[in-house]
Amino acid sequence: MTTGVLGTGAVGRTIAAKLAELGHDVVMGTRVPAETLRRVVKEDGAGSQLDAWLAKRTRIKLGTFAEAATHGDLVWNATSGGKSLAVLGASRAASVGPRILVDVANPLDFSRGMPPTLLVKDTDSLGEQIQREYPSLRVVKALNTMNAAVMTDPSSVAGGAHTAFMCGNDAEAKAEVRAVLESFGWRDVIDLGDITASRGMEMILPIWLRLFGILKTPSFNFHIAR
Ligand SMILES: NC(=O)c1ccc[n+]([C@@H]2O[C@H](COP(=O)([O-])OP(=O)(O)OC[C@H]3O[C@@H](n4cnc5c(N)ncnc54)[C@H](OP(=O)(O)O)[C@@H]3O)[C@@H](O)[C@H]2O)c1
Repeated sequence: MTTGVLGTGAVGRTIAAKLAELGHDVVMGTRVPAETLRRVVKEDGAGSQLDAWLAKRTRIKLGTFAEAATHGDLVWNATSGGKSLAVLGASRAASVGPRILVDVANPLDFSRGMPPTLLVKDTDSLGEQIQREYPSLRVVKALNTMNAAVMTDPSSVAGGAHTAFMCGNDAEAKAEVRAVLESFGWRDVIDLGDITASRGMEMILPIWLRLFGILKTPSFNFHIAR
């Protein structure tokens, strides 16, 4: 399977690495590949650059946002939430057929310092904005409610006994994304319905950030007991 990942931050790298480990061929997108290759990443030890990180993960190629957005039928949005709409527009993701876009981004606004606020909330969400602006994309919001490391390694928290949410307008797209999440190890995936559920998924961020401050670790998640 071929997959595009828009974003080279902790989320983009974590998802790309997991997909590659599962046998997908991945193009990870960035603004200027030659510059991003020299960026230091922390997974492989202090001082390691992205080109060395990629050399150990040969199924992942670094490309432009446009190259990643047009690679495969399933594309992940792991870009800074305030820039996601612009990245998707510039990358022509929506002009190449009815792709599934898994939106992991949060519309965080750091302009007033920490903690960040949300750029959109209550009556709208980034997930809905993407779906509205690019109607040919089949947007599925998923995995934005937890730390990057937990996204692809649910067993790292409470043996995996916790919950991933998803939402979107297209039932087939959600079924495909659910299968990918299950391949990551997720056992409890709750479908919250149509893309308007992105509001609640994105508004989890303030409580997530507060918990992070109190627990002093990002290695936790929400478990919906029933
Ligand atoms: N970190 C987490 O644990 C976590 C958890 C849940 C959800 N999220 C959400 O997932 C997304 C990715 O998070 P992240 O922590 O991996 O990294 P991030 O720093 O939020 O985003 C990194 C990506 O955004 C792109 N970007 C930043 N500014 C840009 C601009 N002005 N124009 C175009 N692209 C721009 C970067 O492009 P370049 O590659 O060109 O630099 C990079 O690929 C965010 O929306 C975040 O809120 C993060």
